[in-house]
Amino acid sequence: MREGTATLIRRADYVAPIFWIRTVDLCFDLDPAKTLVASKMRLERNAAVPHGPLRLHGEELNLLRVLIDGESVSFRQEGHELIIDNVPDADFTLEIRNTCAPEKNTALSGLYTSGGSFFTQCEAEGFRRITYFLDRPDVMAVYTVTLRADKARYPVLLSNGNLVETATLDNGRHLAKWHDPFPKPSYLFALVAGDLVAREQRIRTRGGKDHLLQVYVRQGDLEKTEHAMNSLIASVVWDEARFKLPLDLERFMVVGVSDFNMGAMENKGLNIFNTSALLASPATATDADFHRIESIVAHEYFHNWTGNRVTCRDWFQLSLKEGLTVFRDQEFSQDMAATPSARAVCRIEDVRALRARQFPEDAGAMAHSVRPDEYVEINNFYTATVYEKGSEVVRMYQTLVGRDGFAKGMALYFERHDGQAVTCDDFAQAIADANPGSALSTRLDAFKRWYSQAGTPRLRARGAYDAAAQTFTLTLKQTTPATPGQDRKLPQVIPVALGLLARDGQALPLMLQGEDGAAGATETERVLVLDQAEQSFVFVNVPSEPVPSLLRGFSAPVVLDDGLGDAELLVLLTHDSDAFNRWEASQRLALNRILGAVRTGQPLVLDAAYLEAMRAVLRHPELDPAFKALALQLPDEAYIAEQLDVVDPQAVHAAVEAAQTQLASALQADWAWAYDTHQVTAGYSPDPVQSGKRALVNLSLAMLVLNATRSGDGVWPGRAYQRFKDATNMTDRMGALSALVNAQAELADSALARFHAQFKGEALVIDKWFALQGRAAERDGKTFARVKQLMKHPDFTLKNPNRARSLIFSLAMFNPAAFHRADAAGYVFWADQVLALDAINPQVAGRLARVMDRWTALAEPYRSAAREAIARVAAKPDLSNDVREIVQRALA
Ligand code: ARG
Ligand code: ZN
Repeated sequence: MREGTATLIRRADYVAPIFWIRTVDLCFDLDPAKTLVASKMRLERNAAVPHGPLRLHGEELNLLRVLIDGESVSFRQEGHELIIDNVPDADFTLEIRNTCAPEKNTALSGLYTSGGSFFTQCEAEGFRRITYFLDRPDVMAVYTVTLRADKARYPVLLSNGNLVETATLDNGRHLAKWHDPFPKPSYLFALVAGDLVAREQRIRTRGGKDHLLQVYVRQGDLEKTEHAMNSLIASVVWDEARFKLPLDLERFMVVGVSDFNMGAMENKGLNIFNTSALLASPATATDADFHRIESIVAHEYFHNWTGNRVTCRDWFQLSLKEGLTVFRDQEFSQDMAATPSARAVCRIEDVRALRARQFPEDAGAMAHSVRPDEYVEINNFYTATVYEKGSEVVRMYQTLVGRDGFAKGMALYFERHDGQAVTCDDFAQAIADANPGSALSTRLDAFKRWYSQAGTPRLRARGAYDAAAQTFTLTLKQTTPATPGQDRKLPQVIPVALGLLARDGQALPLMLQGEDGAAGATETERVLVLDQAEQSFVFVNVPSEPVPSLLRGFSAPVVLDDGLGDAELLVLLTHDSDAFNRWEASQRLALNRILGAVRTGQPLVLDAAYLEAMRAVLRHPELDPAFKALALQLPDEAYIAEQLDVVDPQAVHAAVEAAQTQLASALQADWAWAYDTHQVTAGYSPDPVQSGKRALVNLSLAMLVLNATRSGDGVWPGRAYQRFKDATNMTDRMGALSALVNAQAELADSALARFHAQFKGEALVIDKWFALQGRAAERDGKTFARVKQLMKHPDFTLKNPNRARSLIFSLAMFNPAAFHRADAAGYVFWADQVLALDAINPQVAGRLARVMDRWTALAEPYRSAAREAIARVAAKPDLSNDVREIVQRALA
């Protein structure tokens, strides 16, 4: 958007469109250099708003002609708008012809080519790069799309809805015509044309309707689509069972593309996926990839109702569809996990991701509420806050009204709003109205502060036991830190799921003062609702001093300070019936020690009590291997940094590394035992049981190789190398390879060379090869030097987002110790790459720019060097809106 001026868009300025577009007929003559687009629309004035000219959005287009009711009309072009002053009062037909240049479209927004095929990405504002339109989500039209292209090069021609006509044309061209009966906003439009093949599956759903499911990929990738297809079928079944939401299309298509800015896109009936979120085989994808694919396939499918049938009125409401759909895909993954322990593992992983990505976002320059108030570039707001915190907000509705109450609320939401473009308020109202008198409905206005207030609330909890009265008084206090533009915050509604444990681990009954004997007398878990700045809750008939287990299952997205010491945390780690809080205790034990070392500047020395507790977890006869792997993993450096007011990334890293080395050496025999006893011998399956064992085996191997490398012993590195060579699946292979690379073992280089040679034809695996080296544990600047070297590798390119992310983002986002260098070379590299990427793909550049979000919290010399690098980027004329908004906010 370089020609125009950047304007700040405000939520408060929303006005309904002056015109509606009811139907649109699009004809494409597809050509990579110059594609002709002919559009014929039926328009109608919106009687509810004052008259005004017709203003259509259009970017990077070449306009050929404009007709109204078949006659040419005068028009103006201003910036990115096509303005027609004289339009009829009654309904009219608008015809527009324009061209665009798909092969020059490196931004991958609008219509572009990838691997010789055509693809589109229209969310949020890509449709205006295809043709002139009212490119806003509250304008919903019925689309008919005709595609014409060379038949040999583009045998497959797809768009939304149902195929209504095919024909062979002259000059080796052919035609396909699609009709989508559902009115939709332009951001859900899609087309695909290319040489693709499909895996197909016919299914009959509960209502007795038949559907065709298709997964389209390039020749040769077909055998990697089985998992995606299975995930899609499971998603269809789940949504019908859990929310009574059926598949509403005869044909549902999913397409993979290797150049894509994000994970995937929910275009109506024609989801388009980054191949990294779609393709998997045991030989090329890890357990984590299988898991991610299942959840993204589900996510996009679930959007068919939450996003497509009911969409957003404007982009400020993005979390209406994204937060809700993330919540739905998280619930789906938990339900697929089957066992209680595997469910808990899902929840732990989701919370870990939230804390590593969203909490730092909420504490930095880009902090914004779940429903933001303003933006310059909407693409910058597809964030962890809108998605993951948004999902936590939806989860809190469910916690407050119960699972059945939430299902009722969803039903009411669709009853009221099917076919409409609505707001987060409409959603809140539906859930509340379906649950009159509930803990939500009685506090709805206060609850909605979750949408308007940015920042992660701090929850302080202190208990006082009165042995004589046998009461336990729990005092809860909340504060939310100031964020840019929001100095003062009001109390939020925080559901606190809790239990009380006796010191021997027994769960105690939870009766509050004033309740009669029957109610609550036997409950051992309940939800308290904090809606004031401070509130006390008095539990009665408490026979001994309890250990409170608060915020079970992470019942609210807050930072909890419960003041518990080691002794209490050990009670929770050993006995809590809530697996999430057991894990949380393991993390708190580690975090307290790491933060202690960082704050005092003393070298970290792990004490026997902690090491024994970890040994007990590792050796535990009943705990799940997947759970053990998570509990024994140290907290993310990003999460640790977020707890500090002033961050020295090298000090954080040194403490984590020291903890890791000591865990590796003190538990050496236990790691060897875990490694030997958790081997998977059955054929590969990505299920939770097998993947849990592999996770523990890989963690154990990493510890064993680390310890051996430090002590100069060659046995474990040798075993890791052998395992790397003999592996029959990618999870084992990557596990062994990363153990070698992260320990900087001597065998690492030859393993890396071998890996590259073996997988040189597999782009997604080569991405892993780059990513592993970009994330490799830093020592003596070797990782940073290697990344700079790899930038010149013949396989490296900035043009493919996956490849750019695999190397550059791995370093800048996931490898703080390699990135934050006292000589500022990391920041210089960052600025260079942001500018280089911005010339190619602003969305990807904008994402990389965000690495500096929390630069003001850095200690010197990092802080000054970071400011200088950001200022250098900001000084560049001609920046995209994406990058400019990020760096300007950072410097504000
Ligand atoms: N709606 C898509 C999804 O969540 C993501 C689209 C992202 N668009 C963007 N401009 N960043 O599945
Ligand atoms: Zn989504």
